[in-house]
Amino acid sequence: MKDKYKIIEHEYDVVVVGAGGAGLRATFGMAEKGLKTACISKVFPTRSHTVAAQGGISAALGNNGADDWRWHMYDTVKGSDWLGDQDAIEYMCREAIPAVLELEHYGVPFSRNPDGKIYQRAFGGMTTHYGEGTAQRTCAAADVTGHAILHTLYQQALKHEAEFFIEYVVLDLIMEEGACRGVLAWCLEDGSLHAFKAHTVVLATGGYGRCYFSSTSAHTVTGDGSAMVLRAGLPLQDMEFIQFHPTGIYGVGCLITEGVRGEGGYLTNSEGERFMERYAPHAKDLASRDVVSRAITLEVNAGRGVGENKDCAFLHLEHLDAQLVHERLPGISETARVFAGVDVTKEPLPVIPTVHYNMGGIPTNYKAEVVTLKDGDPDAVVPGLMAIGEAACVSVHGANRLGSNSLLDIVVFGRAAAIRCAQLIKPGTAHKPLPEGACDAALARFEKIRNAAGRLRVSAVRLNMQHTMQNHAAVFRTADILAKGEQEIAKVRGSFADIKISDRSLIWNTDLVEALELDNLLALSLVTMAAAANRTESRGGHARDDYPERDDANWLKHSLLWLENNKVKIDYRPVHLYTLTDDVEMIPPKKRVY
Ligand code: FUM
Repeated sequence: MKDKYKIIEHEYDVVVVGAGGAGLRATFGMAEKGLKTACISKVFPTRSHTVAAQGGISAALGNNGADDWRWHMYDTVKGSDWLGDQDAIEYMCREAIPAVLELEHYGVPFSRNPDGKIYQRAFGGMTTHYGEGTAQRTCAAADVTGHAILHTLYQQALKHEAEFFIEYVVLDLIMEEGACRGVLAWCLEDGSLHAFKAHTVVLATGGYGRCYFSSTSAHTVTGDGSAMVLRAGLPLQDMEFIQFHPTGIYGVGCLITEGVRGEGGYLTNSEGERFMERYAPHAKDLASRDVVSRAITLEVNAGRGVGENKDCAFLHLEHLDAQLVHERLPGISETARVFAGVDVTKEPLPVIPTVHYNMGGIPTNYKAEVVTLKDGDPDAVVPGLMAIGEAACVSVHGANRLGSNSLLDIVVFGRAAAIRCAQLIKPGTAHKPLPEGACDAALARFEKIRNAAGRLRVSAVRLNMQHTMQNHAAVFRTADILAKGEQEIAKVRGSFADIKISDRSLIWNTDLVEALELDNLLALSLVTMAAAANRTESRGGHARDDYPERDDANWLKHSLLWLENNKVKIDYRPVHLYTLTDDVEMIPPKKRVY
């Protein structure tokens, strides 16, 4: 295989895979600390999916009312339905404040209050005084906050002279005796293959929302890093927890930010009722996303849906001042006009819960180091490997992420990865040669898929996968539906062996790129379905009709999923129910109150 493909070797202190917000924050943080850093991305950095984040980034700055990072921490632990690791949550909520001020100083064009401070809006699940009041904690750049942050971070990366390998597809991790030594990548522009040696590889490859038919994710969100981790024989964590955003545009899935409800928007059913008042009398339309998504689904199931098919809800902004909508929500106004033909200042918008975020992913500690279960140690660090952003499961979001904690997660843990690498790596440390055959398995997979000569189109297999996930691992789940889902998804994955690649070239072969991405998505779908079937309780984004209660006695634990010989193996890690400092008390699981 080595003779068939010439491999160009590179040596770096650190290689970051992915150039979204997490990847870019890590990349320039490393470069700033003198580490020779490469960032490899399959898309141009400013096209990464972070660009689509709308409503904002949370931090207890207290610019629009009283706030405290400890309240933010409480909300995040509660929002996670107690599955979040409290040491990591403490770290994130405390570091949120310097991390956002740092972004301001880097040049993020945040919206401003009249006094010149960063404007902060209300978001679901964000409270003051440990659940008493409503916090305005989400720092916003109108409703294009991700776009503003991504562009600023890319500018910083260029300023610090990090090296970029753009439109390179990373094929696999290069592992040696349980440690990561680098990655193998394919350059789309000229078809060349590259082995990047690194003392640390940082996976910032995002989530895998494209397993589903209706998703707010870009088409590039295919969980590449997470699938590489499975192929390296390492586990993923808590894959059963999929977040449905309550307000995707009906029929197209485009995100309509929760910031709409933060600015005073609300939902109604076919009777014109503001039904969230019934489901969450206290938080109402600003209850956490799992609660609102379930409420919409229950209204539809009860025959109170709106629209031609009575299968969605109305989101209202038409009562808001049109000038306010124009200033604070310009992006969604345009999206609603283009994709739904709705002028939100005049009429309600039909919305439906849409897959938005993966709480599960590559298990890490709060320093961004990948961990695994080894010799009874649930926190054993995998040498040379880190993960950040949606690809990772730190786990700060536990079973359900609060809106605006994602942009925060990518910035805080991108920064944490750089801090940790600076502690671990002396710039310019020599590399050992890679072991003989280090890239053979990755090359064999590449070669097999490239030459696939079956009967099925990649797009047809992908559609089968997306419908299977949509129908069998949806907002509400039962043992029967999941068991059927496990069979179906295994069948769809099996059908991948019969795909046909029409283009055999190595230059800009998008047919092959999509097949490689589909292979990744299929592996992730398989473990997601198995994890969902396995967890016999309801918690956060995982709602089981047949097990409607949260069951702390049996399930206050993280699931770990390995994929071995096409079979999913499951084990567990304890939740970190301890904090990093004495500034906050350990928070035991509590009864749900919305
Ligand atoms: O609703 C939104 O603006 C999405 C934010 C998030 O997922 O954090």
